[in-house]
Amino acid sequence: MTPGRREFLASALAAGAVAWLAPRAAQGAEAKIDVLLNEPIGTISPNIYSHFVEHLGGVVYDGIWVGENSKVPNIGGIRRALVEHVKRVKPGVIRWPGGCFADQYDWHDGIGPREKRPRRVNFWADTNYKVTDAYKQLKDGPQKYEPNWFGTNEFMQLCRLTNAQPYFAANVRSLNVRAYLEWLEYCNAPAGLTTLSDLRAASGQRDPFNVSYWGIGNESWGCGGDMLPEEYAEEFRRFTAWVPTYGVKINFIATGPNGADVGWTRRFLAKLVEKGSGQLNKVHTLGLHYYCGTTGKGNALEYTDDEWYELIHRSDRIESLVNQHWTVMGESDPQHKVKLAVDEWGAWHLQDPSLPTGYLYGYPGTLRDALISAVNLDTFQRHADKVAMANPAQLINTIHSLFIAYEDKFVATPNFHVFEMYAAHQGAQAVRTEFVAPRVSYMRTVNNNREQAQFWGLAGSASVNGKQLTITAANPDAKTSRDTEININGARIASAQARVLTASDIHAHNSFANPNALEPRDEAVNVGAGGTLVYRFAPASVTRLQLILA
Ligand code: AHR
Repeated sequence: MTPGRREFLASALAAGAVAWLAPRAAQGAEAKIDVLLNEPIGTISPNIYSHFVEHLGGVVYDGIWVGENSKVPNIGGIRRALVEHVKRVKPGVIRWPGGCFADQYDWHDGIGPREKRPRRVNFWADTNYKVTDAYKQLKDGPQKYEPNWFGTNEFMQLCRLTNAQPYFAANVRSLNVRAYLEWLEYCNAPAGLTTLSDLRAASGQRDPFNVSYWGIGNESWGCGGDMLPEEYAEEFRRFTAWVPTYGVKINFIATGPNGADVGWTRRFLAKLVEKGSGQLNKVHTLGLHYYCGTTGKGNALEYTDDEWYELIHRSDRIESLVNQHWTVMGESDPQHKVKLAVDEWGAWHLQDPSLPTGYLYGYPGTLRDALISAVNLDTFQRHADKVAMANPAQLINTIHSLFIAYEDKFVATPNFHVFEMYAAHQGAQAVRTEFVAPRVSYMRTVNNNREQAQFWGLAGSASVNGKQLTITAANPDAKTSRDTEININGARIASAQARVLTASDIHAHNSFANPNALEPRDEAVNVGAGGTLVYRFAPASVTRLQLILA
């Protein structure tokens, strides 16, 4: 984009442009999307569409693992409905076994005959973090006392069934490098070579698992050891020094910052490269965690219009976080060898009291969470040159999940629908795209004062794959549609179709009683005679446009 144009757009946006644009968009259009095909950003890694599974609440037991003898339809103990749905979102990697749980997990506990595996207190059993009194009083169950029925082999089975790559998180806080190297050997060494690879083969898994993605701890600034960034850099170097590859390229994910903590990013990388810039070759990605939280009373299903806007606005902070950390990473890594893995993101509301008590942080997301998913995924795509992986927290039954399940009930949340719609971007070339639209305004409370706030009225991303252009966008305006002129660098549009997730009620969601209440619908789109397009984005919507270019 030329500097003049960039300045114009920036000032239009800064002014909260309500009516602007010269030359005016097509008759009646009040917003505009310019897709700049000649400004490629990078290939959209399928790993931006990754997932996260932790032994927390109802995620593993019974969200994923129901057991082979369950009346719940399953494949070797893994919930069949989950497998079928996860395949539809084309997962990149699945991260496991945590989260905070990972730094308390001994992988040895999760192998061998299932009935002989040890029981342990789950990391989350005694947590006081955002839990209800009912949860605190929970006495038993696999959510509290980890039976280790779902271990390495079972997790690999989940990956195989869903066509996902495994991403393991090594325990840095409570185990040593040797335990990590043994896990790697169990997973990746060819059968017949070592005692551990023979143990794997004896469990029916002759072929190595070839696990390529390894996280070195998790949130080492907090539950993963309360370390200083310098201390963690030393741990990272020890865990990643002279690691056998067994012919597999190992991609190490380093614990990255908590939200805006650029101090962690700066100090970790600075300490790491004290040993030489070659250390950077060992860092595939730096994991950034950002939860936009909740608003009001924290109820996932009840919120005012203002709370709807406030949370979507807060989720949009992810863009400045990506940019800030990227800039700081450049101080120690001017060639930007190290990319970002946003390996925990999402909203985080209070647990729905109608779900079983042990299903910590479980709730069905609403249309609001769907827009938050769209905001995040579009941001990662606009920064496809920086973000190599992203994983919402988590896959099922907790926090920003794609599914809710309880015994034989299973429902896809609105987040699932966004992931399925957006999967069309995977592997395509992200291209610079400018959105200009009237901004949305709302009232928020800051330090007990009510003040007006505003943010963009339409935002998204675009990617191109041959003649197919995919544009995805969120319209956060709860009431107003956006007539939008779409320009593709002067290229003509041969045909177009749309898929839209929206509802007249901004609280719309799916539930066990009404599992299909909120689903996307396909729309026919009329392309103008000259191959032009003015599209009306519905209020409170997530939209995917698929255009075939002439
Ligand atoms: O996703 C839930 C928890 O949030 C994870 O265990 C931890 O890494 C983060 O604080």
